[in-house]
Amino acid sequence: MKIEPASSIVGHIAVPGDKSISHRAVMVGAVAEGETLVRGFGRSRDTEATIAAVRALAVTVDEDDVDTIRVQGVGLRGLQEPSGPIDCRNSGTTLRLLAGLLAGQRGRFELTGDDSLRGRPVDRIATPLAEMGTRVETADGKPPLVVEGGELEAIRYELPVASAQVKSCVLHAGLYAEGRTTVIEPLPTRDHTEIMLAAAGAPVTRRPDRVSIGPADRLALGELDVPGDFSAAAPFVVAATLLPGSELTIHDVGLNPRRTGLLEVLERMGARITAFHRRKSGGEPIGDLVVQSAELVATTVRAEEVPRMVDELPLFALAAACARGESTVEGARELRVKETDRIETVTTSLRALGIRIRKRDDGFGVRGVPTRPKGGGMDSHGDHRIAMLGAVAGLVSRDGVELENDEAVAVSFPGFFELLDSVTQR
Ligand code: S3P
Repeated sequence: MKIEPASSIVGHIAVPGDKSISHRAVMVGAVAEGETLVRGFGRSRDTEATIAAVRALAVTVDEDDVDTIRVQGVGLRGLQEPSGPIDCRNSGTTLRLLAGLLAGQRGRFELTGDDSLRGRPVDRIATPLAEMGTRVETADGKPPLVVEGGELEAIRYELPVASAQVKSCVLHAGLYAEGRTTVIEPLPTRDHTEIMLAAAGAPVTRRPDRVSIGPADRLALGELDVPGDFSAAAPFVVAATLLPGSELTIHDVGLNPRRTGLLEVLERMGARITAFHRRKSGGEPIGDLVVQSAELVATTVRAEEVPRMVDELPLFALAAACARGESTVEGARELRVKETDRIETVTTSLRALGIRIRKRDDGFGVRGVPTRPKGGGMDSHGDHRIAMLGAVAGLVSRDGVELENDEAVAVSFPGFFELLDSVTQR
């Protein structure tokens, strides 16, 4: 697909429901009592993988509408052993979070996925689950992952890497363990699991660097409104910031501070972004964002900030390319184990567009110039975040971008190109 250069981004949009929260709503709804009504469900290939996975475990999910679903909960121990492996497709969140719930069920469960997912680490969840008493097998630390549920013991687990998926997996297993399970985080990561489990009635206690959970008798969610996905809003935020004359309003977007690191970083670079109408929905902070174009200066993203913008670091690289001066991202080695090795895919694809970016072991350095990058060809390598990066790069470039494997956006945001087109002025 050819992305032609744009002059500005103008208008009002709403983005699909948050992917992380949508996955969690389906999983927690599956083990809750009674029906969970999810409004604003973020439909995408990844969240459909979660629906398919819980259906394979004998949970009924009614799809009333593209973004309204009802999950018929089977209770905490009601998931049934499927006849074959569960295919989590491209979704690490599906595999890692579900494994925690399966550790508390009777039976043997095999979780697998596509080529990308089968290349990603699951030893990070196998280790704590085994410590809790689950029988776990992996293929050399990678999927397929086999979990045999049983009697679980609570653990106190210090996460070796800042990962919301690992934290969530251990908290899910903690629902079934004897005693209180505590997860200690090296840095704060997204806290949607603890917010949702507490709302469902699980005994969750929190301190800034740790979360504890006790065994639950029953969970019930009832109704849930999913906020717009900040990560889906991020490409629009960056495009509107970089294109002169832009003014874009993004309505009802999730503004959980553990997700909005990109806003803070862009603001210190000089971006003009204002949040209005801040409120809460289902325990999650939301609001409307108004983004106006601005000239940016370089900055350094340090390790402490990385988990709060981990999925937005590819877009940060592009913003840095158009900012005056040298920008750096440090302490982001986790990018190497995402849907692609994003340190490689970001640096090789942006270099091909004429951007001066160097990879580091744990991030990248960008020499920014406040002009449009030249443009050229790039490949998403099947990674949805790289495909969205390519689209924004095309808009802000001089010659446009020929983007290969653009359909990867459907993993998180099927209507992305249409929505982008609706606010793009050529
Ligand atoms: C997610 C956590 C993050 C993030 C992913 C979604 C989640 O992964 O990159 O897109 O929903 O918990 P890690 O926990 O592996 O950092």
